[in-house]
Amino acid sequence: MKVLVTGGAGYIGSITSEILLDEGHEVVIFDNLERGHREAVDARARLIQGDLRNREDIRGAMRDARPDAVMHFAAFALVGESMQDPMLYFRNNVLGGIQLVEAILERGVKKIIFSSTCATYGQPDRMPMTEDMPQRPTNPYGESKLMLEKVLNWERERHGLQPVFLRYFNAAGATEKLGEDHDPESHLIPNVLRVALGKSRALNIFGDDYPTPDGTCIRDYIHIVDLAQAHILALTGEHTGAFNLGNGDGYSVKQVLEVARELTGHPIPAEISPRRPGDPARLIAGADKAKQVLGWKPKYPEVRTIVQHAWNWHRAHPNGYRK
Ligand SMILES: NC(=O)c1ccc[n+]([C@@H]2O[C@H](COP(=O)([O-])OP(=O)(O)OC[C@H]3O[C@@H](n4cnc5c(N)ncnc54)[C@H](O)[C@@H]3O)[C@@H](O)[C@H]2O)c1
Repeated sequence: MKVLVTGGAGYIGSITSEILLDEGHEVVIFDNLERGHREAVDARARLIQGDLRNREDIRGAMRDARPDAVMHFAAFALVGESMQDPMLYFRNNVLGGIQLVEAILERGVKKIIFSSTCATYGQPDRMPMTEDMPQRPTNPYGESKLMLEKVLNWERERHGLQPVFLRYFNAAGATEKLGEDHDPESHLIPNVLRVALGKSRALNIFGDDYPTPDGTCIRDYIHIVDLAQAHILALTGEHTGAFNLGNGDGYSVKQVLEVARELTGHPIPAEISPRRPGDPARLIAGADKAKQVLGWKPKYPEVRTIVQHAWNWHRAHPNGYRK
């Protein structure tokens, strides 16, 4: 298939593009490079540089690329930044998303795979979290993703669009070529590894007084290659609707830190800071639906493998994509 990948110069979009290309699909990347890296764009893909907030950029790209399907990764994704500046998130993630949907409808494309998030659920009242749980986001980032899910649902109802919402838990890990390089970095695993590389002095643990066995927050980590595979499965067939993507296993901040200490052989000092507002104690995916309906089988469910692959990439790229 020919797939237009928005945000294909970013972490998840670039790796999904790499795997799409490996599997023989054609890829056109649409990215403004504001938070992505030209170096992460696979040489086999075509890059169209443009901004979703400029209607003509995305209309032109859709006309030019004539894709069979769209994977939509492009968005801002920092919870804290969204609390500081909600409108930045509604403008980019909602307005930008709507302009993409309009351009898709104009070209008669039906299939869109949308990067949604467990942040659309807010504070969960049961665990593991399933797709039918109420969605009550507690920050503008999660709200912006839920708003676009709703837009896409109405377009399914009214115009036969076939949206798939993949609600990711915590994406992590790397391939041999591509990895995670955000600035600022808000994710645990790359931040732990930055300390092992001597790029920061100590890891900041936000709160150790949560109601969990060791007091630190528990999250569900999913290998980036498994995440990419789920996108490719969602692309084929008549699938539509929401799927959680996670391993159904939770690891605390301190457990991830211990794994990283063992794998890197570095003591990785850590300091306790106050809790971040709105961080739930525990977020664990119920991903049976993706397994049953999409036939998804995670290849790397172990957190050890996820950290090892991330470490391999960070060690080979201590400055990320910067030379
Ligand atoms: N990383 C995670 O653990 C995680 C979890 C849940 C959901 N998500 C979602 O997955 C998607 C990808 O996440 P990521 O970690 O790869 O993010 P990223 O920041 O690495 O990549 C996003 C890419 O989109 C591009 N972009 C942003 N706004 C754009 C615009 N207006 N026009 C064109 N390009 C634009 C950026 O330049 C960047 O290359 C996001 O939608 C995010 O909300 C990520």
